[in-house]
Amino acid sequence: MVRPGAVAVAARWLQSAFQGKVLYAVKANPSPWVIRELLAQGVSAFDVASIPEIEAVRAQAPHAELAFMHPIKAPEAIARAYFDHGVRTFALDSEDELAKILAATGGARDLNLMVRLAVEAGGAAYALSGKFGVQAMDAPALLLAARRATQDLMGVSFHVGSQCMRPSAYQAAMAQASRALVRAGVLADVVDVGGGFPSVYPGMSPPDLAEYVGAIERGFAEMMVHETTELWCEPGRALVAESTSLLTRVELRRGDSLYINDGAYGSLFDAAHAKWPFPVKLLRAEGPSEAPLRGFQLYGPTCDSIDVMPGPFRLPDDVRQGDHVEIGMLGAYGVAMATRFNGFGELETVEVEDGPMASMYGLAPRSIPTARPDANVVRFSRAKGRRRRKR
Ligand SMILES: Cc1ncc(COP(=O)(O)O)c(C=O)c1O
Repeated sequence: MVRPGAVAVAARWLQSAFQGKVLYAVKANPSPWVIRELLAQGVSAFDVASIPEIEAVRAQAPHAELAFMHPIKAPEAIARAYFDHGVRTFALDSEDELAKILAATGGARDLNLMVRLAVEAGGAAYALSGKFGVQAMDAPALLLAARRATQDLMGVSFHVGSQCMRPSAYQAAMAQASRALVRAGVLADVVDVGGGFPSVYPGMSPPDLAEYVGAIERGFAEMMVHETTELWCEPGRALVAESTSLLTRVELRRGDSLYINDGAYGSLFDAAHAKWPFPVKLLRAEGPSEAPLRGFQLYGPTCDSIDVMPGPFRLPDDVRQGDHVEIGMLGAYGVAMATRFNGFGELETVEVEDGPMASMYGLAPRSIPTARPDANVVRFSRAKGRRRRKR
């Protein structure tokens, strides 16, 4: 169930609050309706990581600015991006990748080269530090090499980790970027603070997004940059998380386990593999249930036993086969992750007009209670309370 209006509100907020260029990280949700809505709201730059992502944007926006921000790319993908799709901005985190980009573009000089730095930022619920980014020790040499390789822009980028709960993480990362630039003796034309802006999930109520923007402004003011240095960000989650719910059906109940028709190989990848908490709501044709809430685990439809979402997901105690369960806040890294394993994964997309289950932009509350792992939540704790009072 998709809400283009929620994408529009997020896009408007970020573009007006962030003092620089907002690129959408397509990986979070490459659905055509998302790209269409962002374009309609004036987002005209996109962070892409593959040729299919480039094609998804180009299909709707032949002239959009594309930044190929994957630090390790196939030479063929670099060549197609440069020659067929007009991409000029490429990320790299090693001298080998720099050489690969130069070779694949025929020694092009009109490149914007973005050096991805490894930063120690902390505060992210989903760390992205281990895999990419040049370490502080090697960063100055790479920055210098990138600076020399292009006549156009040379920038620094980093990612503080996804769902970053601490605004100061950006300022800390920018200080590390600044130190690397000073040591290299070069000035950056672009400072790209990446993604990581949070959304709301059960038990995760982030600070106001204005605090993130403020921390980035302070971090930028403290950096050694020149007058015309551009500030970029590449949010994925914050632009789309609120926009989508998944409507699933209970195919069987066994105690506090519900077997539903989507799961770890579908749109619930994060719920299964990262044990990510998502909010749920029971939808029943005859109206809401009055039963108290308790915690359930969800099983997906495939035959694989890792197809389980431990939750716990708080649903009325009388949930039964045939009921529908809406799983909210799945606009980021939801449908984007789905496979067709075991023949499942067919989705119907329906536009809805209700609000999201929670919101960073005032569309709904900015917190969702946690379901504790000991939950049979409401009923169990009430009964315990009564017993205690008797004694
Ligand atoms: C290079 C890059 N930019 C931006 C993003 C978007 O991050 P988020 O969804 O946390 O905003 C990612 C996510 O993995 C990324 O790898």
